[in-house]
Amino acid sequence: MADKQPVNSSRLPEAMGASLIELLGHERFLTDSHSLQHYGRDWTRFVAPAPSGVLLPNSIGEIQAIVHLARKYGAKLVPSGGRTGLSGGAMAAGGELVLSLERMRKISPINKAGRSVTCEAGAITAQIQQAAAEEGLMYPVDFASSGSSQIGGNIATNAGGIQVIRYGMTRDWVTGLKVVTGTSELLELNHGLIKNNTGLDFRHLFIGSEGILGVIVEATLALTDPPTNPRVMVLGIQSMPALMEVLAKCQTRLSVLAFEFFSDLALEKVTAAHSIQPPFQERFPYYALVEFESISTAAETQALELVEACMAAGWVEDAVLSQNESQRRSLWRLREDISETIAQWTPYKNDISTTVQQAPELLSSVDALVAQHYTDLDVVWYGHIGDGNLHLNILKPDGVSVGAFEERCKAVSAHLFTAVQNLGGSISAEHGVGLLKKEFLHFSRDEAEISLMRGIKAQFDPDGIFNPGKVFDA
Ligand code: MLT
Ligand code: ZN
Repeated sequence: MADKQPVNSSRLPEAMGASLIELLGHERFLTDSHSLQHYGRDWTRFVAPAPSGVLLPNSIGEIQAIVHLARKYGAKLVPSGGRTGLSGGAMAAGGELVLSLERMRKISPINKAGRSVTCEAGAITAQIQQAAAEEGLMYPVDFASSGSSQIGGNIATNAGGIQVIRYGMTRDWVTGLKVVTGTSELLELNHGLIKNNTGLDFRHLFIGSEGILGVIVEATLALTDPPTNPRVMVLGIQSMPALMEVLAKCQTRLSVLAFEFFSDLALEKVTAAHSIQPPFQERFPYYALVEFESISTAAETQALELVEACMAAGWVEDAVLSQNESQRRSLWRLREDISETIAQWTPYKNDISTTVQQAPELLSSVDALVAQHYTDLDVVWYGHIGDGNLHLNILKPDGVSVGAFEERCKAVSAHLFTAVQNLGGSISAEHGVGLLKKEFLHFSRDEAEISLMRGIKAQFDPDGIFNPGKVFDA
């Protein structure tokens, strides 16, 4: 139960506090310090949370009323889902009100003929996946945080994850959205339609908008068939060029569901933290995790032949193939547990991408920069290299302050992002821009584009109520 302290009036007009209490009651308008800390932050650790309150609406009508009050009193709102973001997009660091969707998590019955599901924005990703699975269907956007992330947050950040190579990003699965804009208007976008060529599609503006245009309150998602008999191989690999050769070979020979990679230090951290057996006796600089559909025994034979050919070419040193579902899940843990395992070292996260064909150039530029700037720090590499996305995590050493560590890494990121820019790549492939990548946005988007973004924000949110200071400064 929340304590009933008065609202911090230095931050929020008293009359607004009174109206919020009238609308939500003390139970759903939280101002105690634990709630402010808890709801005011996402998974990033470089900015301190400082919201002035936490709002827990139960309905779209309440959200519209909140936006109306925010407009009237000049308050700011930070839309908030599972707060698993990694770029500070859901941080409330400047006296904003956190607008949490956690009470709005209803999932409607699966529409079997239409292969779709409609849910409130606070629905947990894994629960949507479970509801689809119970009807023999699948919502295929998946990642390690699916047990706590909410669909509204996934959509606002256009979440990617581990099977983008096969299924694409969140954007590819959203057929309808309900959003409340900065004028408190409710927009119903695309209505779950598969075909709808009637002018500009605002749904796609809200996907990946990081809460700067308004708040997503409901979504309709397309579903698909689950893959047949997925199998996982982990391959020990000596070099980045070899990794890319293996990717090319897998793409021509297998029905690939995922092609992930991680470095030896990543494996070392995960196996030590969770007391897991490493997959091989020997250690290798890199590992590829390949998931493929094994529709028939021929698919397995093909996979084994592929591994042999890769070994003969000197690209793969050793390999292990899952023989059952429990082994498949254990092998996935080697990759999926990395992010959570290294969180204790306050990692500085780079999330960069190029086209898949340019990934070898990206990897060699990054390799050179790491060798030049980070010889004294632990660097953990992993990522979705099958879709051109590399995660480069620098671990903070003990005894160094978070601020000094961040400054040092930012200076290196400027070089890194120049390399990314030269390849026409992205400085944020899937984590978003939020607060942490804002100063680097110009490496991926030019002034004309950023200025158009400002104009679009002004159309949907003329008073700048929603998520101020995220993505770009107004
Ligand atoms: C991942 O690929 O594991 C996620 O994007 C999270 C992370 O990069 O730490
Ligand atoms: Zn990722």
